[in-house]
Amino acid sequence: MSQTRPSQAALSSGEADTFAVEAGTLPVVAYAPPVAADAFRGAMARVASAVHLVTTDGAGGRAGFTASAVCSVSDGPPTLLVCINRSSSAYAAVSVNAGLCVNTLAHDQSGVAAAFGGRTPMAVRFEAGTWTTLVTGAPALLGALTAFDCRIVARHPVGTHDVLYCEVVALAEPGDGHGLVYADRGYHTVPLGAAPPREAAA
Ligand SMILES: Cc1cc2nc3c(=O)[nH]c(=O)nc-3n(C[C@H](O)[C@H](O)[C@H](O)COP(=O)(O)O)c2cc1C
Repeated sequence: MSQTRPSQAALSSGEADTFAVEAGTLPVVAYAPPVAADAFRGAMARVASAVHLVTTDGAGGRAGFTASAVCSVSDGPPTLLVCINRSSSAYAAVSVNAGLCVNTLAHDQSGVAAAFGGRTPMAVRFEAGTWTTLVTGAPALLGALTAFDCRIVARHPVGTHDVLYCEVVALAEPGDGHGLVYADRGYHTVPLGAAPPREAAA
């Protein structure tokens, strides 16, 4: 699909909500000016997202952060993408290490999410959970709903963040908790199937 560039008059009148998409090419170029960052954050606050801990270990050191900007890219090969703010304290380690683990949190793990959500020293963050490793050596959280151990295969800077493409090389045994989502700047439980209530494992 291809659309023509809107006129300057359309841009100034606010009607320019169209953008050009060249078939098969990236990036998509928006001709309308971007919305304000705080308006975007307000809109994103209305989007319920699964909550993950992204952890890493290796020559760059052990680190982790809470992340909602994680999604599936492909199952051939199984690939996730993870967005990390380059100003975060975990970035130095993530930018050096070859692997990371995406730990998807269960309903009773919002305390771990808070510990990894910023401003807590890295060593203290890891006291909030019990850990194992899978293949890459990145910490995998016991009691998580699931964990994707990954090799980072590509990194693309976009705005304030790096987008990491991560090939999944191992999976943890699925946990039995309910889901945890972040929305309206708070944590909420999402009932999952017949998942039984359980003791917190982390
Ligand atoms: C629910 C939630 C989701 C978050 N998602 C992301 C994310 O996807 N990417 C990211 O870089 N930071 C994300 N953050 C922020 C980081 O966890 C962390 O707070 C931030 O990187 C600053 O941490 P620092 O004190 O280690 O520098 C999220 C925080 C919360 C609470």
